[in-house]
Amino acid sequence: MQLKDRVALVTGAAHRLGKSVATALAEQGCHLVVHYGSSEEQAAQTVEELSNLGIEAVALSADLSLEQEIEGLFDRIDSHFGRLDILVNSAASFERQAFESVAASDWDRVMAVNLRAAFLCSRQGVRLMEADHPTGGPPGLILNIVDLSAVLAWPGYIQHGVSKAGLLHLTRIMARELGPEVRVNAVLPGAVLPPPGMTTDSTEWRRMGERLPVGRTGEPAQVGLTVVFLAENDFITGEVIYVDGGEHLLGAGHRRPGAES
Ligand SMILES: NC(=O)c1ccc[n+]([C@@H]2O[C@H](COP(=O)([O-])OP(=O)(O)OC[C@H]3O[C@@H](n4cnc5c(N)ncnc54)[C@H](OP(=O)(O)O)[C@@H]3O)[C@@H](O)[C@H]2O)c1
Repeated sequence: MQLKDRVALVTGAAHRLGKSVATALAEQGCHLVVHYGSSEEQAAQTVEELSNLGIEAVALSADLSLEQEIEGLFDRIDSHFGRLDILVNSAASFERQAFESVAASDWDRVMAVNLRAAFLCSRQGVRLMEADHPTGGPPGLILNIVDLSAVLAWPGYIQHGVSKAGLLHLTRIMARELGPEVRVNAVLPGAVLPPPGMTTDSTEWRRMGERLPVGRTGEPAQVGLTVVFLAENDFITGEVIYVDGGEHLLGAGHRRPGAES
């Protein structure tokens, strides 16, 4: 798919990894819907920075744990752009919690954002993609951002890991169901951004990188590059690309310093 003048929605795009993905798409000429939950000021700042790249960007808020708000988000995209070509499901809730203390409400809260919202956004997104992509046209694209907890059994992240494993499987099921009008892929980043409270110049972050097969941590822009690659290559669907410096090769026994806190 040629990316110039396509319309992309990135959920959770006000800051951090979602912002990097939105920036990578904007640099290729995509117009951007910068979705945010509570980070209004950062979303406005992101829109300003993306607009400086010469594309149109708008910030739209929605609580992704609520179906009605998701519907409203897509109605506003329809009113504003009248189309959607790329949906990146990046927003997530990353919670560490001991198995015994996970209440039904904790389970539901994480599943609602990490898995159900991705499904509901995809269902809404497909409506806008298919309207604009009659059979024979370039397919739309859904990209799900997962993490290593989808494939490795990390203790202490039960609802998060199950939600990401579900998102990975949802990727494959949707790739079959939604073709040929829509392709669906996943990106699996590893240590590309330190967890809140840790800085990129800290000893923990450097040590985390030294333990990886590539010997260093990555950068959010490397995830953006992968998203652009998957968007441009129309012959890839149902695929997951690891952008983790080989961390998955170390197995679940390997613990990132600081990841536990
Ligand atoms: N950081 C990494 O190194 C890394 C590694 C592997 C995978 N990932 C994946 O990459 C994605 C982004 O990671 P990140 O570290 O940048 O995430 P983050 O800092 O935890 O940000 C999460 C985003 O999700 C949004 N969000 C959460 N709950 C929401 C809700 N109920 N309604 C609407 N928005 C909601 C937040 O929006 P607001 O701030 O506007 O509320 C925020 O932008 C996630 O899927 C994560 O699992 C990240």
